[in-house]
Amino acid sequence: MDATPLDPAFDPAQRRAELDREDIEIDLLLEGVYRNYGVDFRQYSRASLRRRLWRRVDLEHVGTISGLQELLLHDAAVMERLLLDLSINVTAMFRDPSFFRALRVQVVPLLRTYPFVRIWNAGCSTGEETYSLAILLREAGLYDRTRIYATDINEVVLQRARQGLFPLEKMQEYTENYLAGGGTQAFSQYYTAAYEHAQFDRSLADNIVFAQHNLVSDRSFNEFQLIVCRNVMIYFDKALQDAVHRLFHGSLARLGILALGHKESISFTSHEGDYDVVNADERLYRKLQ
Ligand SMILES: C[S@@+](CC[C@H](N)C(=O)[O-])C[C@H]1O[C@@H](n2cnc3c(N)ncnc32)[C@H](O)[C@@H]1O
Repeated sequence: MDATPLDPAFDPAQRRAELDREDIEIDLLLEGVYRNYGVDFRQYSRASLRRRLWRRVDLEHVGTISGLQELLLHDAAVMERLLLDLSINVTAMFRDPSFFRALRVQVVPLLRTYPFVRIWNAGCSTGEETYSLAILLREAGLYDRTRIYATDINEVVLQRARQGLFPLEKMQEYTENYLAGGGTQAFSQYYTAAYEHAQFDRSLADNIVFAQHNLVSDRSFNEFQLIVCRNVMIYFDKALQDAVHRLFHGSLARLGILALGHKESISFTSHEGDYDVVNADERLYRKLQ
């Protein structure tokens, strides 16, 4: 065990040097992760990163941060486990209900004008947001002519998303979100309870394609009338955000909607001038050209 400040053997200068060395190893690991996987943790809070990285070092039995770096760069499965450790997959059904209310009131009428609707749910995590969109579209009578492409960098969360199986204990909270988001049906009609889980109606996934896609390094794969990307770019620095906005702008149909949610904004990005604001609070934008 390391000497603590109360220990007579504790040498502050030595401890400082150890921390500096560890910081350099963390910098190198983060740089390697960014270059190889396009996920940028370089601006994350150091204290929490340090704790989580050391936990992963222990679980992978590699002994050091640089040992973890070596392993990460050669084994994508380790990278996926680290992504889960950093718990950036937090999500919920009808999260921020006012966003879904705005979609129902302001975006659905626009989508109705298309014979067929393609939606990109980027950074969908374990799928709660995607199933929420499917429910909303079904209630609007649009689901049958919609295809939702739900993508994430992390294959582990996508596998969970495909199952449509969510913790039963969350259903009270999700029902409240659904109602606050403008839902008028009995939310329980969309799932059946199976032990500790709620199995969502299989038909809700009929028009959803879950696929791995890295927003930083992969290209556009279709043209969409609506792109929903919430709580993803908050983890990116400005250069990365600009790159993703370029990708979204290039992937939206003319007059298509970009839906970013409360925490992100088009302001101060390279594409700020390319959209009309549809809803400033919910960060709904409409592509001009
Ligand atoms: C906090 S979750 C947001 C989930 C959902 N959109 C929501 O708001 O509830 C962020 C998701 O973005 C994904 N992500 C992070 N970097 C990504 C990238 N470069 N490309 C695609 N997805 C990414 C993560 O794997 C994670 O599942």
